[in-house]
Amino acid sequence: MSNPTPALAASPTPSVLAAQHRSVELEEQIASTPGRFRVLTGDRPTGPLHLGHYFGTLANRVRLQAAGVEVFVVIADYQVITDRDVAGDVRGNVREVLLDHLAAGIVPRTGTGTGTGTGTRPGPGGPGATIFTHSSVPALNQLLLPFLSLVTVAELQRNPTVKAEAAASAARGGAGGRGMSGLLLTYPVHQAADILFCGANLVPVGQDQLPHLETTRSIARRFNERYAAGHEVFAEPEALLSPVPLLLGTDGAKMSKSAGNAIALRAGEDETARLIRSARTDAQRRITYDPVHRPEVSSLLLTAALCTGTSPEALAEEVGDGGAVGLKAVVTEAVNEHLRPLRARRREFADADDHLRAVLAAGDEHANAVADHTLATVQETLGMTG
Ligand code: TRP
Repeated sequence: MSNPTPALAASPTPSVLAAQHRSVELEEQIASTPGRFRVLTGDRPTGPLHLGHYFGTLANRVRLQAAGVEVFVVIADYQVITDRDVAGDVRGNVREVLLDHLAAGIVPRTGTGTGTGTGTRPGPGGPGATIFTHSSVPALNQLLLPFLSLVTVAELQRNPTVKAEAAASAARGGAGGRGMSGLLLTYPVHQAADILFCGANLVPVGQDQLPHLETTRSIARRFNERYAAGHEVFAEPEALLSPVPLLLGTDGAKMSKSAGNAIALRAGEDETARLIRSARTDAQRRITYDPVHRPEVSSLLLTAALCTGTSPEALAEEVGDGGAVGLKAVVTEAVNEHLRPLRARRREFADADDHLRAVLAAGDEHANAVADHTLATVQETLGMTG
């Protein structure tokens, strides 16, 4: 879940600066020893992924996998109802999210028995990514119980992302007059289970997710201290901050599925052109890159720059006095050009239902094996077995 405030113009807090600094070091380690890392990341299946997801997280996941890091992707279906009253077409949305990953270039584990076993440490070699749905891995929810014992209600109530989501949900009429649900309050603990079950030591996140990761780290640390006499059952995972700022949607607010302002990866070229034509800009003819004073124009420039691998400043120069019309022509061309191969792959996978089923089955099976192993270790540590 994400903070509704656009991050383009926000100045970084000390903890964000620290995480940025650490991320530079982590990138160096990833480049030299990718086999030391296991990534867990994921999305709630509330609809198809869009350009903001792509440049914010999806492309980064593809990059990490290609660098040799083992990747787990949770499609967090149970967590859809955290901030809304209806689950919607969860099955269809799981499929869309899976298609977006495959189209973007994630190589999934298929078949069974491949990879690095069921331990909670990354192993050598590069197995395909484990893509699984939360609801298919019951042990995840069993881990929640001991983990809940390790956080206080006050800590959860202080979590800024939980607070922001509660406010956003109330504003949409979701949580309405009922107040915060137990599920929303405990959301950071769910994420902790998602991350810790597979011994992930690296979580690529946006700035707004840092508080969640802090909760995960506290839970790992406290579990070791309180229940395992200091023995390291869980490693504290680290945040890898995405280098890309949030993209704005066509209405100038943060791009989001629910705001109806997003350019979906699966959108056609004409639809993409239409959406970009409708995007909010400003009245100045001269196009400049100025994220603080001209957030909408700058976000469009950034989008095109990310697609073409140039700088937003250079693109602004290129458009010059072309105004919004010239800018939008450049952006449309850049987006459609960049997404063309992705969209072609997406259409191929969309016709391969058996393959999609096999990918999820293999991911679910592996995630279950890993999660059952972790749960057994937890129960043993708590003296419940043996
Ligand atoms: N919170 C993410 C979202 O709202 C999805 C998610 C669930 C996740 N569990 C996670 C992300 C663990 C990172 C790590 O889409």
